[in-house]
Amino acid sequence: MRYKCFVGAMGTLVLLCAWLLALYGCGGGGGPVKVPPAPERPLSPTAEFLALLPEGQRGATFVGSEKCAECHGGRQAQGEPIYVSWRQTKHAAVNVGCEQCHGPGSKHAKSPSKDNILTFPNITRSIVCGQCHGPSYEEHKRSAHAKPVEELVNPNFVGSNPRLYVATCYRCHSAPFRVELVDAKLAIGQSRDDIDRAISALTNEQLMAYLPVTHESASCVTCHDPHRNTNYLTKEGKQALLRRAIESTDTTDIAPGTPPKQHTTFNHICASCHNGRGANPSDSALETGTARPNMHESNQFNMLVGIGGGEGTGPIVRNMAHLNAPGQCTHCHMPNGRHTMTVSYDIGCAPCHTPADASQRAQTLRAEVELKLYALRVRMENWARQQDFNGDGQPDNDPDLWNYWALVPAEKQSLARTIQGRIPIQVKRARHNYYFVLRDSSFGIHNPPYARHLLNVANLELDPLGVPRIAPETLLSRAPRQRIRVILQSDLQRLKEAQLRE
Ligand code: HEC
Ligand code: HEC
Ligand code: HEC
Ligand code: HEC
Ligand code: HEC
Ligand code: HEC
Ligand code: HEC
Ligand code: HEC
Repeated sequence: MRYKCFVGAMGTLVLLCAWLLALYGCGGGGGPVKVPPAPERPLSPTAEFLALLPEGQRGATFVGSEKCAECHGGRQAQGEPIYVSWRQTKHAAVNVGCEQCHGPGSKHAKSPSKDNILTFPNITRSIVCGQCHGPSYEEHKRSAHAKPVEELVNPNFVGSNPRLYVATCYRCHSAPFRVELVDAKLAIGQSRDDIDRAISALTNEQLMAYLPVTHESASCVTCHDPHRNTNYLTKEGKQALLRRAIESTDTTDIAPGTPPKQHTTFNHICASCHNGRGANPSDSALETGTARPNMHESNQFNMLVGIGGGEGTGPIVRNMAHLNAPGQCTHCHMPNGRHTMTVSYDIGCAPCHTPADASQRAQTLRAEVELKLYALRVRMENWARQQDFNGDGQPDNDPDLWNYWALVPAEKQSLARTIQGRIPIQVKRARHNYYFVLRDSSFGIHNPPYARHLLNVANLELDPLGVPRIAPETLLSRAPRQRIRVILQSDLQRLKEAQLRE
């Protein structure tokens, strides 16, 4: 029986998993705002893991980590030998050896090749860790990280420009691409330039090869280094093999005009992806970039620190206590280490707010910010209605032409494009702030004073243009809260579509 030894060892693993499950409990708790339903799992973790192994590894048996050390424990070109760093980890202490993740190594040790050991790209799949870390794995699976953005793995779409869609977008949108070409390289001390050069040197064919193997935006080893203890501890000071720091207030890597390589090698576990890639409130950027807002879908870190919105000239409160919450994003989004990334008002806001206070404040602030966003939007519409863009001597009464041209209905886009030069800078500044606050998607909670400030500045910009401010009561009589929410959500949807078009 060729698999005998392997299956035997897997039996031990199953016991280990059961023990871990008992150890970790369910890992949930609290009152998450929205936790997606638990997924169906057709395969057992073991079968799912076995399916990843390359053909050449079938039938191999376990040889033990000491065997691997003969070749992977000595001097190598860059970084500390894997065996040496692994020895210092908790995994080594509890006998989670090389082969627990890479599969049995007898064939590979006899005749080393990439075709008889589990390596890139499949080694980056979360099920490798999910064999034992059941609770974290299940939580992760329910998070948005566990699947890619659909269009970005569609060969017809990506094939039109792999140099953009893979070489750029995959740095944040593909676990296998990012782990192999960014994170594993950072771990052995390569520089941003080295990483950038290596990615630029890939052929289109090499780039396209990452499509069929991309199953997750972020997997366990996007955030965790499998081989070494790191200096980046959790907010409780625990070792968790984190690849990057959980906290930072440094904005040099996201400052307007920063080259893209900086955005993805930024030393922050969440903000290396959740930053506003390109967010730039300068007038010259607003005059030239008129297709869509110049910040990516993901400006949460920019909002948290307070950088990238149009700030006007008055005094400003740039950020507040939420930036300084121990663990930053992880404090609110990963209470008790929960990997769904959903916020819990019950435990995620402690010790600063009681659950009732947090939930009450969040609802009130959200209602306020939604109404202010809508009021600003209606004002920009009212401004557009008064313009005579079609040149017939009458106001057009068209509510759409205040917008970036790729965001108006398709049949108006060519007109919208030609008139961008006639949209005054005040409207351009106001719409930048509108989208900056909307895109962050926390509706002010990440940074209440900055969000309020940006919306206030936007309104001050519009004052000289002769479109009066509108009282909130009037607005609510025009559109009930539910309707306002739908309008704002459809703006977010349009942004997403434009992001994939332009
Ligand atoms: C006799 C020396 C030797 C032993 C023993 C050995 N390896 Fe290797 N290993 C190599 C060589 C050489 C390569 C590079 C193969 C290639 O590039 O085709 C390699 C490649 C790998 C890779 C792929 C790296 C990549 O760049 O994709 C992994 C993973 C790996 N080994 C893990 C292990 C594990 C786990 C063990 C123990 C079970 C082990 N090796 C034992 C020599 C060895
Ligand atoms: C907890 C799971 C785990 C353990 C234990 C583990 N690895 Fe890995 N290994 C991975 C993952 C995941 C990757 C890909 C991500 C990376 O390189 O950071 C990887 C990558 C590698 C690579 C390719 C590295 C590169 O960057 O080219 C080699 C070689 C390797 N492992 C050897 C080993 C050896 C030898 C051991 C034991 C001393 C070991 N691994 C232990 C999970 C593990
Ligand atoms: C064969 C089972 C097994 C596999 C596979 C495995 N782990 Fe573990 N892991 C463990 C055990 C057991 C512990 C120790 C738990 C404890 O003591 O609380 C642990 C601890 C950890 C810790 C805490 C580290 C510390 O220093 O306390 C992290 C983080 C972790 N694993 C991540 C991973 C990741 C990421 C992978 C996949 C690349 C992985 N594990 C694969 C069994 C496994
Ligand atoms: C610096 C990291 C980074 C880069 C580079 C990046 N993205 Fe993103 N993207 C993100 C993050 C993080 C999100 C999730 C934001 C959120 O949900 O608020 C996201 C979300 C999206 C979404 C919305 C997904 C949804 O389901 O709503 C689209 C579409 C998208 N990105 C497309 C792209 C394209 C196209 C590129 C390349 C031109 C790209 N991204 C490059 C980080 C990045
Ligand atoms: C988006 C980044 C991210 C991803 C993806 C991720 N983790 Fe984590 N993980 C973290 C952070 C951050 C912590 C520390 C949370 C805390 O306790 O504050 C953590 C903590 C852990 C711990 C607890 C360590 C301890 O002893 O407290 C384990 C185990 C773990 N992760 C395993 C996994 C596994 C398994 C996966 C994949 C199924 C995974 N993680 C995916 C970021 C991530
Ligand atoms: C490798 C890049 C990457 C890293 C690192 C990362 N994320 Fe994400 N995150 C994404 C992408 C991409 C999406 C959107 C996926 C989609 O919409 O399909 C996302 C989605 C989310 C969402 C859900 C947003 C929504 O619209 O539903 C939350 C919340 C989130 N991430 C929080 C975090 C936190 C907290 C961390 C750090 C612990 C983190 N992320 C680290 C890329 C990343
Ligand atoms: C003070 C607590 C707190 C901190 C710190 C925090 N968030 Fe949030 N975040 C929230 C709340 C509350 C929401 C709104 C939750 C909801 O409605 O589901 C939110 C919303 C989000 C969303 C949109 C989720 C969705 O469903 O559309 C993303 C993505 C996100 N945060 C990522 C991050 C990232 C990345 C960081 C760190 C740079 C961070 N957050 C820091 C509390 C926080
Ligand atoms: C590290 C402490 C800390 C954490 C954690 C924290 N907050 Fe706060 N929060 C504050 C402080 C301080 C203020 C300002 C208090 C004031 O204005 O009276 C504040 C203000 C707020 C406000 C703004 C009220 C307003 O209208 O200006 C909201 C909403 C809010 N928090 C929600 C949350 C939610 C939801 C969470 C958890 C997901 C959370 N906070 C986590 C410290 C914290």
